[in-house]
Parts: sequence; structure tokens; C-alpha cells
Amino acid sequence: MSEAQDLPPGVDPTVPSAGRLYDYYLGGTEYLEVDRLAGDKIFATVPELGDIVWSNRGFLQRASKQLAAEVGIRQFIDIGAGLPTRNNTHEAVQSVAPDASTVYVDNDPMILAHARSLLEGVDNTEFITGDLRDPDSVLGNPELRSLINFDEPVALMMAAVVHFVSDEADPWGLMKQYMNALTPGSYLCLSHITSDNVPPEGVAAFLSVYNNASENLYFRRRQDVERLFDGLELLPPYDGAEPGVTFTGFWGAEDPEAADSDGSRWGLCGVARKP
Ligand SMILES: C[S@@+](CC[C@H](N)C(=O)[O-])C[C@H]1O[C@@H](n2cnc3c(N)ncnc32)[C@H](O)[C@@H]1O
Repeated sequence: MSEAQDLPPGVDPTVPSAGRLYDYYLGGTEYLEVDRLAGDKIFATVPELGDIVWSNRGFLQRASKQLAAEVGIRQFIDIGAGLPTRNNTHEAVQSVAPDASTVYVDNDPMILAHARSLLEGVDNTEFITGDLRDPDSVLGNPELRSLINFDEPVALMMAAVVHFVSDEADPWGLMKQYMNALTPGSYLCLSHITSDNVPPEGVAAFLSVYNNASENLYFRRRQDVERLFDGLELLPPYDGAEPGVTFTGFWGAEDPEAADSDGSRWGLCGVARKP
């Protein structure tokens, strides 16, 4: 856990933040006491919380690696990146394509400060501050543009971040805006928390924490997550499956039955190609 007196500018130690809470759920070290107390309230009602977040991480890693290894994508923009400590996008893709570029984007000042030092000396990788709800500013960022060539396909990673965007901010329109900026053959990889068929008291526990956090959380039903992929061609999530959106544990799983778990069923995800 970080000490409140050593905080980077812009960090409010009295309000839990989406980025630091996630680090706490994953068993990291970049959270504050306020995050631990808030996170423990959810753990008390949702004991599978660790499984939820690791299942989501598994999706992100399998999807990015598959796009690098099997499709040949060499450029990754990872929005709502979180803290790139372990098994992050640049490591997954550089393990199969050492020349692949990754630009991480996040709006949490604590994440930015730690990420920049963690990534020092790592080739073809940048971390920039930016807000998903402002695509022009994210995609126009000069550091991003120094690594990403918009004439070549890009994989846009949006893992566990669009559920921080309200209906009023129009996440469906935002996805269209991002994908319109990318060349055909680009991909959207997205995961999103769902309230479908999960215990309502668990949903209430999440909401009571995020109603008082840096970002509100918006649970969505499957049909509203599917709409985020409108105009794109969804891939089959695993061998033998129909193309579509699935639970995070299933995507890219060698043995989907074994990958199924209570935690995985809190997250819907998909990978889709821009035709
Ligand atoms: C739940 S974490 C997900 C991290 C990583 N993508 C993953 O799936 O493992 C969500 C991250 O999105 C960031 N975030 C939330 N709202 C954002 C926004 N509007 N723009 C950019 N980043 C945002 C938070 O700071 C946090 O680091």
C-alpha cells in the first residue's frame, strides 16, 4: 500500500479511485487506505472479486497475444490501461512480436506517475494521460502519434473501462468515433461488467462503493454490450464457437468448460474486426 504523504499531484487520498481499487483487487501495491476499506466492502459481498478481475486480465492477455501472433497486428492502443505491473499488453504482444508498439492511456494521476517509471527503458511503449470520453484529444496526442501509424491496422483495447462511461456520455457513439479513426483491418477488444444473472446484492455492493468513488460504475445488459460492437465483425471467442460476445473466462480458452467460473460471469467481452 502506498503512503498518503508521497502522493503524485492530483491524487485525492480521501476518495477511492477506479484505478487504485482495481490494483487492490488484483493484489497490487498502488492503492491507499481509502481504497482498501472500500474494496473490502465489495469483497465481503462478492467473494469472487479476485476471480472477476483476474479473469478479465486473462481475456486481455489472450486477446492481445492472439491479435499479434495470428492476425499480425503490430500497434496497440490500450485505453483505461490501469497499472502495467504484471503481464500487461506490451508484454503479451512483445512476447510474440518484439517490434510491436503499445500506447497506454489512463486518466488516473496515480497510475500515470507509477506507470511512467515502470516503463522507463521499455522500447516501443508509451503511457499517456487521457480521457476515453475525449477521442479527439486521445487520438491526437503527439506521443501517441509518434508510435502509432494510422495508415496501418491498430488493436484498440478497452478492457473493463467502458463501464465507467455513463449512457449520457454515449459509449456507443464513442466506440464508433474511435473505430472510424482506424483503418479497415483494425480491431476492438472490449470487456464490460454485467448485471445479467449475477447476485443483486453483489451489484448493490459495487454500486455503493463506486457511487462515492472517482468514477461511477454502470452495469449493462448483454444487448447493450453487444451494441458497442455495431458495424464490426465479431470473432468466434474460441474454437468451435459462434462469433459473438461471451464471458471473459471463455474468450480464447483452450477448454471453455474448465474456464467457466462465477467470477468470469460478471464480465462480458468480445473481439471484433473493422471490415
Ligand atoms: C478496471 S481498470 C482496468 C484496467 C485494465 N484495462 C484491465 O482490464 O486490466 C479501469 C481503468 O480505467 C481507468 N479509467 C476509468 N475511466 C476512464 C476514462 N474516462 N478515461 C481513461 N481511463 C479511465 C481507471 O483509472 C482504471 O485504471
